[in-house]
Amino acid sequence: MTFSLQGQTVAVLGGSSGIGLAVARGALAAGASTWIAGRDPQRLAAAVAATPGLRSAALDIGDGPALAAFFERIGGLDHLVVTAGASIGAAPLGELDLAGAAREALDVKLLGSLRAAQQALPWLRPGGSIGFTSGMLARKPTPNALVKTVINAGLEAAVRQLARELAPRLRVYAVSPGPVDTPGWSFPDAASRAEKFRQLGAGLPLGYTATAEETAAAYLFAMGARGLTGAVLDLDSGATLG
Ligand SMILES: NC(=O)c1ccc[n+]([C@@H]2O[C@H](COP(=O)([O-])OP(=O)(O)OC[C@H]3O[C@@H](n4cnc5c(N)ncnc54)[C@H](OP(=O)(O)O)[C@@H]3O)[C@@H](O)[C@H]2O)c1
Repeated sequence: MTFSLQGQTVAVLGGSSGIGLAVARGALAAGASTWIAGRDPQRLAAAVAATPGLRSAALDIGDGPALAAFFERIGGLDHLVVTAGASIGAAPLGELDLAGAAREALDVKLLGSLRAAQQALPWLRPGGSIGFTSGMLARKPTPNALVKTVINAGLEAAVRQLARELAPRLRVYAVSPGPVDTPGWSFPDAASRAEKFRQLGAGLPLGYTATAEETAAAYLFAMGARGLTGAVLDLDSGATLG
Protein backbone atom coordinates (compact mmCIF):
# COMPACT_ATOMS: atom_id res chain seq x y z
CA MET A 1 0.00 0.00 0.00
CA THR A 2 1.40 3.43 -0.94
CA PHE A 3 1.64 5.90 1.93
CA SER A 4 -0.71 8.82 1.35
CA LEU A 5 -1.67 11.99 3.21
CA GLN A 6 -4.00 13.04 0.40
CA GLY A 7 -6.71 15.41 1.63
CA GLN A 8 -4.91 16.04 4.93
CA THR A 9 -3.19 19.15 6.29
CA VAL A 10 0.19 19.09 8.02
CA ALA A 11 1.91 21.95 9.87
CA VAL A 12 5.60 21.77 10.74
CA LEU A 13 6.86 24.32 13.27
CA GLY A 14 10.57 24.49 12.53
CA GLY A 15 9.91 23.42 8.95
CA SER A 16 12.26 25.88 7.24
CA SER A 17 15.39 23.83 7.94
CA GLY A 18 16.89 20.45 8.73
CA ILE A 19 14.67 17.66 10.03
CA GLY A 20 11.51 19.81 9.92
CA LEU A 21 12.04 20.73 6.28
CA ALA A 22 12.57 17.07 5.43
CA VAL A 23 9.29 16.20 7.22
CA ALA A 24 7.48 18.96 5.31
CA ARG A 25 8.87 17.76 1.98
CA GLY A 26 7.82 14.21 2.76
CA ALA A 27 4.31 15.29 3.78
CA LEU A 28 3.94 17.37 0.63
CA ALA A 29 5.12 14.47 -1.53
CA ALA A 30 2.54 12.25 0.20
CA GLY A 31 -0.20 14.64 -0.91
CA ALA A 32 -0.77 16.76 2.20
CA SER A 33 -1.44 20.46 2.17
CA THR A 34 1.73 21.39 4.04
CA TRP A 35 2.63 24.47 6.06
CA ILE A 36 6.02 25.36 7.47
CA ALA A 37 6.77 27.97 10.14
CA GLY A 38 9.89 29.50 11.61
CA ARG A 39 11.13 32.93 12.65
CA ASP A 40 13.22 33.99 9.66
CA PRO A 41 11.13 34.97 6.60
CA GLN A 42 14.13 34.63 4.27
CA ARG A 43 14.77 31.09 5.42
CA LEU A 44 11.10 30.28 4.87
CA ALA A 45 11.16 31.86 1.41
CA ALA A 46 14.25 29.83 0.47
CA ALA A 47 12.53 26.61 1.60
CA VAL A 48 9.41 27.41 -0.42
CA ALA A 49 11.49 28.31 -3.47
CA ALA A 50 13.33 24.98 -3.21
CA THR A 51 10.08 23.05 -2.67
CA PRO A 52 7.20 24.69 -4.53
CA GLY A 53 3.85 23.82 -2.99
CA LEU A 54 4.88 24.39 0.62
CA ARG A 55 3.04 27.22 2.34
CA SER A 56 4.77 29.26 5.00
CA ALA A 57 4.26 31.68 7.87
CA ALA A 58 6.83 33.52 9.96
CA LEU A 59 6.37 33.15 13.70
CA ASP A 60 8.22 32.55 16.94
CA ILE A 61 7.09 29.46 18.84
CA GLY A 62 7.46 31.54 22.00
CA ASP A 63 4.59 33.77 20.86
CA GLY A 64 1.21 32.27 21.82
CA PRO A 65 -0.97 34.83 19.96
CA ALA A 66 1.13 34.35 16.79
CA LEU A 67 0.62 30.58 17.05
CA ALA A 68 -3.12 31.09 17.54
CA ALA A 69 -3.28 33.32 14.44
CA PHE A 70 -1.28 30.75 12.44
CA PHE A 71 -3.65 27.89 13.21
CA GLU A 72 -6.67 30.09 12.60
CA ARG A 73 -5.23 31.00 9.18
CA ILE A 74 -4.77 27.31 8.31
CA GLY A 75 -8.32 26.71 9.50
CA GLY A 76 -8.11 23.05 10.50
CA LEU A 77 -5.29 20.53 10.40
CA ASP A 78 -4.65 16.81 10.77
CA HIS A 79 -1.04 16.60 11.90
CA LEU A 80 1.11 19.00 13.92
CA VAL A 81 4.88 18.43 13.99
CA VAL A 82 7.22 20.51 16.15
CA THR A 83 10.93 20.51 15.37
CA ALA A 84 11.78 24.06 16.48
CA GLY A 85 14.52 24.20 19.08
CA ALA A 86 16.98 26.79 20.38
CA SER A 87 20.63 25.81 20.29
CA ILE A 88 22.33 25.76 23.67
CA GLY A 89 26.00 25.10 24.12
CA ALA A 90 27.49 22.45 26.38
CA ALA A 91 28.24 23.60 29.93
CA PRO A 92 28.89 21.91 33.28
CA LEU A 93 26.32 22.45 36.03
CA GLY A 94 28.48 25.03 37.79
CA GLU A 95 28.63 27.23 34.70
CA LEU A 96 25.04 26.94 33.50
CA ASP A 97 23.31 30.24 32.81
CA LEU A 98 20.03 29.14 34.38
CA ALA A 99 18.41 32.58 34.23
CA GLY A 100 19.44 33.19 30.59
CA ALA A 101 20.33 30.59 27.96
CA ALA A 102 18.88 27.62 29.87
CA ARG A 103 15.57 29.38 30.50
CA GLU A 104 15.38 30.44 26.85
CA ALA A 105 16.10 26.92 25.57
CA LEU A 106 13.41 25.51 27.87
CA ASP A 107 10.94 28.13 26.72
CA VAL A 108 11.56 27.53 23.01
CA LYS A 109 11.70 23.74 22.82
CA LEU A 110 9.87 22.34 25.87
CA LEU A 111 7.28 25.02 26.59
CA GLY A 112 7.19 25.98 22.89
CA SER A 113 6.16 22.44 21.93
CA LEU A 114 3.43 22.46 24.60
CA ARG A 115 2.36 25.97 23.59
CA ALA A 116 2.09 24.91 19.94
CA ALA A 117 0.06 21.83 20.88
CA GLN A 118 -2.21 23.93 23.08
CA GLN A 119 -2.88 26.49 20.37
CA ALA A 120 -3.37 23.82 17.69
CA LEU A 121 -5.79 21.81 19.82
CA PRO A 122 -9.03 23.52 18.74
CA TRP A 123 -8.00 23.13 15.09
CA LEU A 124 -6.79 19.51 15.07
CA ARG A 125 -9.28 17.14 13.49
CA PRO A 126 -10.22 13.86 15.22
CA GLY A 127 -7.86 11.10 14.14
CA GLY A 128 -4.99 13.57 13.84
CA SER A 129 -1.65 13.62 15.61
CA ILE A 130 0.83 15.77 17.49
CA GLY A 131 4.52 14.97 16.97
CA PHE A 132 7.28 16.36 19.17
CA THR A 133 11.03 16.12 18.70
CA SER A 134 13.05 14.73 21.57
CA GLY A 135 16.67 13.62 21.21
CA MET A 136 19.03 10.87 22.31
CA LEU A 137 20.23 12.99 25.26
CA ALA A 138 16.88 12.32 26.98
CA ARG A 139 18.06 8.83 27.89
CA LYS A 140 21.81 8.90 27.35
CA PRO A 141 23.47 10.79 30.20
CA THR A 142 26.17 12.95 28.64
CA PRO A 143 28.42 15.32 30.59
CA ASN A 144 27.68 19.04 30.13
CA ALA A 145 24.34 18.46 28.38
CA LEU A 146 22.01 18.86 31.35
CA VAL A 147 19.61 21.38 29.80
CA LYS A 148 19.13 19.40 26.57
CA THR A 149 18.62 16.25 28.63
CA VAL A 150 15.95 17.91 30.78
CA ILE A 151 14.16 19.40 27.76
CA ASN A 152 14.10 16.14 25.81
CA ALA A 153 13.17 14.01 28.81
CA GLY A 154 10.38 16.47 29.61
CA LEU A 155 9.00 16.16 26.12
CA GLU A 156 9.09 12.37 26.28
CA ALA A 157 7.14 12.49 29.55
CA ALA A 158 4.68 14.92 27.95
CA VAL A 159 4.10 12.47 25.10
CA ARG A 160 2.80 9.74 27.40
CA GLN A 161 0.79 12.19 29.47
CA LEU A 162 -0.85 13.89 26.49
CA ALA A 163 -1.40 10.65 24.62
CA ARG A 164 -3.56 9.51 27.54
CA GLU A 165 -5.22 12.89 27.99
CA LEU A 166 -6.09 13.45 24.32
CA ALA A 167 -7.14 9.90 23.41
CA PRO A 168 -9.20 8.85 21.56
CA ARG A 169 -9.43 12.11 19.60
CA LEU A 170 -5.73 12.61 18.89
CA ARG A 171 -2.50 10.61 18.91
CA VAL A 172 0.72 11.95 20.39
CA TYR A 173 4.27 10.74 19.73
CA ALA A 174 7.86 11.96 19.62
CA VAL A 175 10.77 11.17 17.38
CA SER A 176 14.14 10.99 19.14
CA PRO A 177 16.98 11.63 16.69
CA GLY A 178 20.64 10.88 17.17
CA PRO A 179 23.14 13.27 15.57
CA VAL A 180 21.80 14.49 12.20
CA ASP A 181 23.75 16.66 9.76
CA THR A 182 21.54 19.77 9.51
CA PRO A 183 22.11 23.55 9.36
CA GLY A 184 21.56 23.44 13.14
CA TRP A 185 25.25 22.42 13.38
CA SER A 186 27.74 25.04 12.27
CA PHE A 187 31.28 24.35 11.09
CA PRO A 188 33.98 26.51 9.51
CA ASP A 189 34.02 24.38 6.33
CA ALA A 190 32.60 21.29 4.63
CA ALA A 191 35.64 19.14 5.44
CA SER A 192 35.34 19.68 9.20
CA ARG A 193 31.59 18.99 8.98
CA ALA A 194 32.20 15.71 7.17
CA GLU A 195 34.90 14.71 9.65
CA LYS A 196 32.70 15.51 12.66
CA PHE A 197 29.82 13.38 11.38
CA ARG A 198 32.22 10.58 10.45
CA GLN A 199 33.47 10.62 14.07
CA LEU A 200 29.96 10.81 15.51
CA GLY A 201 28.85 7.92 13.33
CA ALA A 202 31.86 5.83 14.34
CA GLY A 203 30.76 6.18 17.98
CA LEU A 204 27.28 4.76 17.33
CA PRO A 205 26.33 1.08 17.29
CA LEU A 206 25.28 1.29 13.62
CA GLY A 207 28.44 3.25 12.72
CA TYR A 208 26.37 5.80 10.87
CA THR A 209 24.43 9.04 11.47
CA ALA A 210 20.98 9.09 9.89
CA THR A 211 20.15 11.82 7.39
CA ALA A 212 17.39 14.38 7.89
CA GLU A 213 15.29 12.48 5.33
CA GLU A 214 15.76 9.16 7.13
CA THR A 215 14.80 10.84 10.40
CA ALA A 216 11.77 12.49 8.78
CA ALA A 217 10.52 9.06 7.71
CA ALA A 218 9.74 8.29 11.38
CA TYR A 219 7.36 11.29 11.64
CA LEU A 220 5.67 10.33 8.37
CA PHE A 221 5.23 6.76 9.59
CA ALA A 222 3.74 8.04 12.86
CA MET A 223 1.27 10.31 11.04
CA GLY A 224 -0.11 7.32 9.18
CA ALA A 225 0.04 4.76 12.02
CA ARG A 226 -3.49 4.81 13.44
CA GLY A 227 -2.62 2.46 16.28
CA LEU A 228 0.42 4.40 17.49
CA THR A 229 0.24 6.79 20.42
CA GLY A 230 2.36 7.58 23.49
CA ALA A 231 5.46 6.29 21.69
CA VAL A 232 8.95 7.68 21.26
CA LEU A 233 10.51 6.51 18.02
CA ASP A 234 14.31 6.31 18.39
CA LEU A 235 15.90 7.14 15.05
CA ASP A 236 19.40 7.33 16.50
CA SER A 237 21.55 4.55 15.02
CA GLY A 238 21.39 2.81 18.39
CA ALA A 239 22.81 5.79 20.33
CA THR A 240 20.80 5.10 23.47
CA LEU A 241 21.69 1.39 23.58
CA GLY A 242 24.90 2.15 25.46
N1 LIG B 1 20.34 17.71 14.26
C1 LIG B 1 20.61 16.94 15.30
O1 LIG B 1 21.73 16.39 15.43
C2 LIG B 1 19.57 16.69 16.36
C3 LIG B 1 19.77 15.65 17.29
C4 LIG B 1 18.81 15.42 18.28
C5 LIG B 1 17.68 16.23 18.35
N2 LIG B 1 17.53 17.24 17.42
C6 LIG B 1 16.36 18.09 17.55
O2 LIG B 1 15.70 18.13 16.30
C7 LIG B 1 15.04 19.40 16.14
C8 LIG B 1 15.38 19.98 14.78
O3 LIG B 1 16.78 20.12 14.71
P1 LIG B 1 17.52 20.50 13.32
O4 LIG B 1 18.91 19.99 13.47
O5 LIG B 1 16.69 20.08 12.17
O6 LIG B 1 17.57 22.10 13.47
P2 LIG B 1 17.70 23.27 12.38
O7 LIG B 1 18.18 22.79 11.07
O8 LIG B 1 18.50 24.34 13.08
O9 LIG B 1 16.18 23.77 12.22
C9 LIG B 1 15.52 24.36 13.30
C10 LIG B 1 14.21 24.93 12.79
O10 LIG B 1 13.49 25.48 13.91
C11 LIG B 1 13.18 26.85 13.65
N3 LIG B 1 13.18 27.57 14.92
C12 LIG B 1 14.18 27.70 15.83
N4 LIG B 1 13.79 28.45 16.86
C13 LIG B 1 12.49 28.79 16.62
C14 LIG B 1 11.53 29.57 17.31
N5 LIG B 1 11.81 30.18 18.48
N6 LIG B 1 10.29 29.71 16.77
C15 LIG B 1 9.98 29.12 15.58
N7 LIG B 1 10.84 28.38 14.88
C16 LIG B 1 12.09 28.22 15.39
C17 LIG B 1 14.29 27.31 12.70
O11 LIG B 1 13.93 28.44 11.92
P3 LIG B 1 14.32 29.95 12.43
O12 LIG B 1 15.72 29.88 12.99
O13 LIG B 1 14.18 30.81 11.22
O14 LIG B 1 13.30 30.29 13.47
C18 LIG B 1 14.39 26.07 11.80
O15 LIG B 1 13.33 26.04 10.88
C19 LIG B 1 15.48 20.26 17.35
O16 LIG B 1 14.49 20.20 18.34
C20 LIG B 1 16.71 19.54 17.85
O17 LIG B 1 16.93 19.73 19.24
C21 LIG B 1 18.45 17.48 16.44
